[in-house]
Amino acid sequence: MTAVLAIDQGTSGTKAVVVDAATGGVVAIAEETVRPTYLPGGGVEQNPHELLDSVLNAGRRAVSAAGRPVDCVALANQGETVLAWDPATGAPLSPAIVWQDRRAEGICAELSGHAEDIARRTGLVLDPYFSAPKMAWLRRNLTREGVVTTTDTWLVHHLTGEFVTDAATASRSLILDLDSASWDGELAGLFGLGEERLPRIVACDEIVGTTRAFGSEVPVAGLIVDQQAALVAEACLDEGTAKCTYGTGAFLLANTGLHPVRSSAGLTTSVAWRAAGRTPYCVDGQVYTVASAVRWLQDLGLIRSATELDELAASDAEGVLCVPAFAGLAAPWWAPDATASFTGMTLATRREHLVLALLQGIAAQVAGLCGLVAADLGEPLTRLRADGGLTNSAVLMQAQADIAQIPVDIYPHAHATPLGAAALARCALDPSLGLAEAVGDWKPTTVYEPRWSADRAEEFRSTWARAATAGATKGD
Ligand code: G3P
Repeated sequence: MTAVLAIDQGTSGTKAVVVDAATGGVVAIAEETVRPTYLPGGGVEQNPHELLDSVLNAGRRAVSAAGRPVDCVALANQGETVLAWDPATGAPLSPAIVWQDRRAEGICAELSGHAEDIARRTGLVLDPYFSAPKMAWLRRNLTREGVVTTTDTWLVHHLTGEFVTDAATASRSLILDLDSASWDGELAGLFGLGEERLPRIVACDEIVGTTRAFGSEVPVAGLIVDQQAALVAEACLDEGTAKCTYGTGAFLLANTGLHPVRSSAGLTTSVAWRAAGRTPYCVDGQVYTVASAVRWLQDLGLIRSATELDELAASDAEGVLCVPAFAGLAAPWWAPDATASFTGMTLATRREHLVLALLQGIAAQVAGLCGLVAADLGEPLTRLRADGGLTNSAVLMQAQADIAQIPVDIYPHAHATPLGAAALARCALDPSLGLAEAVGDWKPTTVYEPRWSADRAEEFRSTWARAATAGATKGD
């Protein structure tokens, strides 16, 4: 019986799942927490050693809990987080600059005259969220030594000695030609990265090397950026299907099939995955701070943990409105300097109103993204598939259904991302296995149906969008 160890190296933690390769069933799970450091001026950093240790420890604990060796290792990654490292020794030469880091804003501003061309070539918006501006910032401000890559390349190098990244992760860079899914040397030059050694781009179902990190020597396959991994796990394999993952941030992705559409609604387009010789694409919209925003409530002492959200949230926010732009705003505003706000507070406002307002603010932002996806797909979303830790908040998920006015289907497993990576690894181990078969069918554990009237939802969405737009434009 073969088994896959699928590791999801995320912003707030690393999850390792051992999956039975024959059935796709979960055999064992282990998790390690990682804590980003938030710096004044919009910096968000992680210690690379902590990331690597979390991968090794979570992976080894999961294998030990499974009580059997694994035959393959798969890895999902944070996407746009970068670091410099020594390719000879693998030693990090900088902190990891996390995707939420906004310090490359100035570099994007310098290149603003090229924004349209960059968007046409890459499908992305010129924003510090993506990896190339952060790589450029790191080169200017931290070190010119070694190579500078996304974290997946570094982690896979530690596991296998190879120098690779997958096509979906590469498509989050702003230096990948979206149509050919190959590096664009001119764009790399524009960011001052023309002389950099860039990793080989691999397919998500490709065996890229072998590792002994988790027992005997086994292949490494199933490399993919985390949001796209969840898209796979939630079986959004056909054009028009969409999911939202509520993790550190919330990310709504909709499959656009083999068409690398350029969004006319302010979303971005990326490679969904590359497997079985095909490269489907997806449009995506982002809420940068979701679990991070809940963590902020916790750090302020307003809640003890995310599990308290539903118990504490008021049944009505009494006019309090929150725009949770703690790390700027993405689609459709693309305002990295926007900040979070709570408005409508009075002396009668209590923490329970703030908690509900924050959850409603997240839901309103995702609802806005549903509207943008509909504009790009040419038809409204009829349902939203949802996964990630904060789907445990019934208040958030009900608010999502109410405000977006569509049913929300909750994915039955806590760890969609590693399951998506595992499905791709299983396809690598057995090329006769189709991705749809590897993923299988799933039934939602819970379906949240809208309870608000369409008018109430529309009014809330417009009021919230006005508040968000005001926050996005106040620095202009
Ligand atoms: O784009 C960043 C995103 O993929 C990070 O995901 O799970 O770490 O919140 P997560």
